[in-house]
Amino acid sequence: MTASICPVERYVVIGNPIAHSMSPAIHTDFAAQLGLPLQYERMLAPLDGFAQTVAALKAAGVKGANVTVPFKLEACLLADALSPAAQFAQAANTLKFLPEGTVLADNTDGGGLCRDLDRQLRTLGLRLNQCQILMVGAGGAASGCVAAFQSAGVQHLTVLNRTVTKARGLAQRAEAIDLPAAGGGLDTPPSHFDVPGAPVVVVNASSSSLKGDVPVLHPDWFERAVLVYDMMYAAQPTPFMRSIRNVETPCSDGLGMLVLQAQLAFEVWTGQSPNALETLIKVRQLLLAKSKKQ
Ligand code: ATR
Repeated sequence: MTASICPVERYVVIGNPIAHSMSPAIHTDFAAQLGLPLQYERMLAPLDGFAQTVAALKAAGVKGANVTVPFKLEACLLADALSPAAQFAQAANTLKFLPEGTVLADNTDGGGLCRDLDRQLRTLGLRLNQCQILMVGAGGAASGCVAAFQSAGVQHLTVLNRTVTKARGLAQRAEAIDLPAAGGGLDTPPSHFDVPGAPVVVVNASSSSLKGDVPVLHPDWFERAVLVYDMMYAAQPTPFMRSIRNVETPCSDGLGMLVLQAQLAFEVWTGQSPNALETLIKVRQLLLAKSKKQ
């Protein structure tokens, strides 16, 4: 009897810049856990060359791609079919190249966030579907999460943003997919919108810390919060996490979201689910080791 040889399946993460991406380490660890012959590489696409890069990858037999800044909107435009999450966000972070040449686009960012929130809430004796969310920010990162909040059965979504019209617009779009929601300015107190009795999870989806800023929220939100989550991550607590004065409230950065969105993408591609928490511990160590070298 001859042993069957499984061909190596190729996947990539496309972005510009891309050198910093931890996705190769994450997916390589997933594949090793499951004993799958999978190769995962970084792919730098020219800023005006995303579609050509995807065409070349498809021609080379690559099975799928993660997509990061600045190509998530373009990834959605070139797809033949969109998941509900990609449809809502009009942005995709996961592409699956099917044998007949078509491209499926998904957005696993929000699903990864919900998996991480639910994981952390369980340790507090809560589930995400019991909670309401205060989301700070109304840009691409925020809109990538709304469909997942609806699927997860979140009780209510409050969107607060520096530009109030964008907060109200995103809240209206959430309501259109049957997620009760409201939008306002950053200083809006919880008494305006919240669902009495539903624990509050605060999620920072703004890009403020890229500029060294922290959005200033009404302090009552933190009085009600059971968990504060920053979608940004770093080796040390992020500026948003450090700005929370109520030290009793558990705070988390977004590294778990990164690993769990990758777990969802891996499931889309292979139909198999690795142990993402095992990988998260390794990725946290990698991040710390990188920061010590700098
Ligand atoms: P991303 O794809 O990272 O979400 P984006 O679509 O440009 O980027 O959205 C950035 C979000 O962060 C927006 O909600 C932005 O608020 P505005 O809509 O008012 O621009 C928010 N943001 C950026 N810098 C901020 C700051 N210094 N304080 C508060 N919010 C900020």
